[in-house]
Amino acid sequence: MKKTATPPPLQNYFTDVPPKYDLINRVMTWGFDQRYRKRMAKMIASSGVTSFLDIGTGTGDLVYQVGLRDPEDKIALSGLDFSATMLEKAAEKTGTLDHSPVSFHPGDASQMPFEDNTFESAGIAYAFRNMMFMNAKTDEILHEYHRILKPGGKFYALETSQPVFFLVRWLFHLYMHLAATVFGGIVSGNFKAYHYLAWSTNNFHSRKTITKMIKGTGFSEVKHY
Ligand SMILES: C[S@@+](CC[C@H](N)C(=O)[O-])C[C@H]1O[C@@H](n2cnc3c(N)ncnc32)[C@H](O)[C@@H]1O
Repeated sequence: MKKTATPPPLQNYFTDVPPKYDLINRVMTWGFDQRYRKRMAKMIASSGVTSFLDIGTGTGDLVYQVGLRDPEDKIALSGLDFSATMLEKAAEKTGTLDHSPVSFHPGDASQMPFEDNTFESAGIAYAFRNMMFMNAKTDEILHEYHRILKPGGKFYALETSQPVFFLVRWLFHLYMHLAATVFGGIVSGNFKAYHYLAWSTNNFHSRKTITKMIKGTGFSEVKHY
């Protein structure tokens, strides 16, 4: 697992990008980011849990999608993020849901402001890489994912890894440079943040390594979809 003493200033990046964050995601991924979030939200909402925490909730897209799929209001919804500007957007977005309010918490995933065994399920969409790549707090964060879940609780992670075939991987990396660094940089005006996205995605772990990391945290079973 790679670590660095001088990690990228993630909190600054995620404080600056929210105004155009959703738009860039949709265009850059051709809408696939939402498709995958919806698929995961469906799994979470239909699993019979009564509590869910969205870790690194950002503008609240995942927790919003879970709320949409819980019309009987059976799931107590929460979100955590260390960017205050992201949380503002998330509160705005989820405020339009016909659901009891989502409870948002400012905080770092390496030290979550929750008791042990609080949630029946937790999920993370496109923030796992931020927390696991060149991040000095990786081990603490993995420990927290497990600590805040009740025994038997489920953790859902939606993230990119590395395509297995060389040519596909090469094209994917090239696309990330063009779509993230160039397009994301121009639209957001924050080239550093979007260069970080391309760089961290292109150098992120393989599925095998990710599985090993999660299993090592104490989760008994890891499934891929
Ligand atoms: C790439 S965005 C993903 C946002 C959202 N989950 C989505 O589906 O679009 C990553 C989010 O994780 C948050 N984040 C990254 N590292 C974090 C940490 N250590 N603690 C809390 N939030 C973190 C960022 O502030 C940002 O909002």
